[in-house]
Amino acid sequence: MQELNQRVILKSRPEGWVTPDNFDLDTTPVAEPEDGQLLVRNVYLSVDPYMRGRMNDVKSYVPPFELGKPLQGGVVGQVVASRNDAFAEGEWVSGMLGWENFSLSDGEGLQKVQAGPAPLSYHLGILGMPGMTAYVGLIGVGELQKGENVFVTAASGAVGSVVGQIAKNMDCHVAGSAGSDEKVAFLTAELGFDAALNYKTVEDHVAAVRGACPKGIDVHFENVGGPMFEAAIFNMRERGRIALCGMIADYNAEVWALPPGPRGLFVLIGRSIRMQGFIVFNYPKLCAEWVALGARWLEEGKIKYRETVAEGLESAPAAFIGMLEGKNFGKQIVRLADE
Ligand SMILES: NC(=O)c1ccc[n+]([C@@H]2O[C@H](COP(=O)([O-])OP(=O)(O)OC[C@H]3O[C@@H](n4cnc5c(N)ncnc54)[C@H](OP(=O)(O)O)[C@@H]3O)[C@@H](O)[C@H]2O)c1
Repeated sequence: MQELNQRVILKSRPEGWVTPDNFDLDTTPVAEPEDGQLLVRNVYLSVDPYMRGRMNDVKSYVPPFELGKPLQGGVVGQVVASRNDAFAEGEWVSGMLGWENFSLSDGEGLQKVQAGPAPLSYHLGILGMPGMTAYVGLIGVGELQKGENVFVTAASGAVGSVVGQIAKNMDCHVAGSAGSDEKVAFLTAELGFDAALNYKTVEDHVAAVRGACPKGIDVHFENVGGPMFEAAIFNMRERGRIALCGMIADYNAEVWALPPGPRGLFVLIGRSIRMQGFIVFNYPKLCAEWVALGARWLEEGKIKYRETVAEGLESAPAAFIGMLEGKNFGKQIVRLADE
């Protein structure tokens, strides 16, 4: 009997917040690879904030998801059939594939990954795109120097948790914000942050950042937008750098319904601050550098990584919505099958 492939389909585009109704599950026969193709059994899916942007029908640095087709994202899987000379059956790969149990690929953009000391799923997190983003933003964009003062928002997440630990390994003063007391405790007790704050419960965001970074901020790594971003701006030091990585607080909003902001941009003028947005894949050399360094630090116990794992393809939409709501603790992935 032919094996079946379950897929998560984009049923409709969200208006505002993503809802379970935007997704559908369907089942098709597993396809046979043709000449030049390989078939991958997907084992781990990455759940990433940028995917929210791809649900909209707008031109961006990646094309929108197509209605009626499977969503696409970072996947780690195993080659189960290959008619492509570059990939052999049994090898593990990571790359952009469908939210489905099996994906056909022509091999383009797929990387081979080793089941080694680091768990395979880490190739979607600390050793994959989120880890690379942390390194690119801090080193390439923020030009972080040893001993400087760093602040990061969404600090316990896939990117933020790596940002803070890279900076700690460079002897920096590191502080960050997160959305629960449990996450805040994790930052200081487990990851070695010097200070952390719960942005949902502090009354005065500017004062809270000042308390966490008493000398001010040399490099601010922004993942969120909103009041924390403004608070960081007001605490920037002379010639500080802001690496504008993400603004997840705005991803589900109608852009022209948002209040104007952030307030206080004049601070950038008087203190000669540079603010720069970036897309991780525009820095391939730094990405490769990070994969080697991150793997070494993991082996040496110099960096830790936490994951939230949802089980089964059918749980992927809820995991995605939960991540946008902050229910993830560390990198959100979905496990589809046993390795
Ligand atoms: N520029 C690039 O190339 C690039 C690449 C990768 C990621 N990014 C960006 O980096 C950021 C972090 O991504 P990630 O993969 O590491 O995600 P993540 O931090 O693991 O998960 C998202 C987190 O955002 C926080 N959040 C959600 N809504 C928020 C709000 N309104 N205010 C404050 N915090 C909110 C939640 O944590 P709390 O519980 O702390 O609220 C949630 O857990 C995102 O903005 C993403 O788009 C950019």
